[in-house]
Amino acid sequence: MIDARQLTKRYGDKTAVDGLDFVVKPGTVTGFLGPNGAGKSTTMRMIVGLDAPTSGSVTVNGRPYARHQAPLQEVGALLEAKSIHPGRSAANHLRALALTHGIPRRRVDEVIELAGLGSVARKRAGAFSLGMGQRLGIAAALLGDPQTVMLDEPVNGLDPEGVLWIRNLLKTLADEGRTVFVSSHLMSEMALVADHLIIVGRGRLLADTTVGDLIREAGGDTVTVVTQDPARLRDVLAGPGVDVTGRIGSEELQVTGATAREIGLKAAEHGIALFELTSRSVSLEEAFMDLTRDAVEYHGSTTAVETLGRPA
Ligand SMILES: Nc1ncnc2c1ncn2[C@@H]1O[C@H](COP(=O)(O)OP(=O)(O)OP(=O)(O)O)[C@@H](O)[C@H]1O
Ligand SMILES: [Mg+2]
Repeated sequence: MIDARQLTKRYGDKTAVDGLDFVVKPGTVTGFLGPNGAGKSTTMRMIVGLDAPTSGSVTVNGRPYARHQAPLQEVGALLEAKSIHPGRSAANHLRALALTHGIPRRRVDEVIELAGLGSVARKRAGAFSLGMGQRLGIAAALLGDPQTVMLDEPVNGLDPEGVLWIRNLLKTLADEGRTVFVSSHLMSEMALVADHLIIVGRGRLLADTTVGDLIREAGGDTVTVVTQDPARLRDVLAGPGVDVTGRIGSEELQVTGATAREIGLKAAEHGIALFELTSRSVSLEEAFMDLTRDAVEYHGSTTAVETLGRPA
């Protein structure tokens, strides 16, 4: 369990993390989302004591990280995958970590196997590709068989097999009753793996919710209906929680708060002809973009590309 209370970090006049209150519970995968520069990595660094809060506090399993007798057995973290001595082999890197933490040598072999590093374990870590480095970082995070696992963008750089591996790994760790806290920008992946979400923007908490609730609040399913008589269909669909929109003069309506089946039955009951009835779910990506629109600090631009013009 991770418990942040009014957690705040300032760098000069920049407030990277601004009064965050949240709890990450065991037994589920909690996604940590937010635009670039939102304060996710800074929060994660404070969780494991690599950065000191300016104010507020954060505990892991009831204590500040530094007060744990055996921190690696308490929290396994992947923050900077490349923070490895480049000349050391993967196996030696893990062995050194294990030795300094009283972890048996067979556990090193176990995590090498688990992370799919068997064939490269004796190679210099400095020569690892991005994905191999990520795998080694994850192996190190799991070395102490910790109750809490925290990974900063673990999917970054992994091949499709690696992405699937992480997905199953995170779910298994949560099913074993562990606390799993993971940041990512890949919304499709988060939608598959996370149950709970903590979303930040400009250092502030924007949402502490479930994937299902976030999507529901963003409009849930939208049903597009094309009908001969939009005005009458609007009337018969009207009710609490049902929202119908559509351009004046158009036969097409967008309905939220009613399923395609309910709309079809209502239309049949009133003898209203339908030409089309299509249901579409709001994706986590759309819900996220909606929620964080005002919190995005670094916007890309397509006009800059257009003004570059074609090469001569
Ligand atoms: N050591 C530091 N010194 C000064 N500013 C910092 C430092 N670390 C982070 N920041 C600033 O704090 C803010 C939050 O950064 P952070 O890396 O936590 O964001 P993030 O949510 O992890 O972003 P990303 O999705 O890009 O990884 C940014 O504006 C960043 O420039
Ligand atoms: Mg980051």
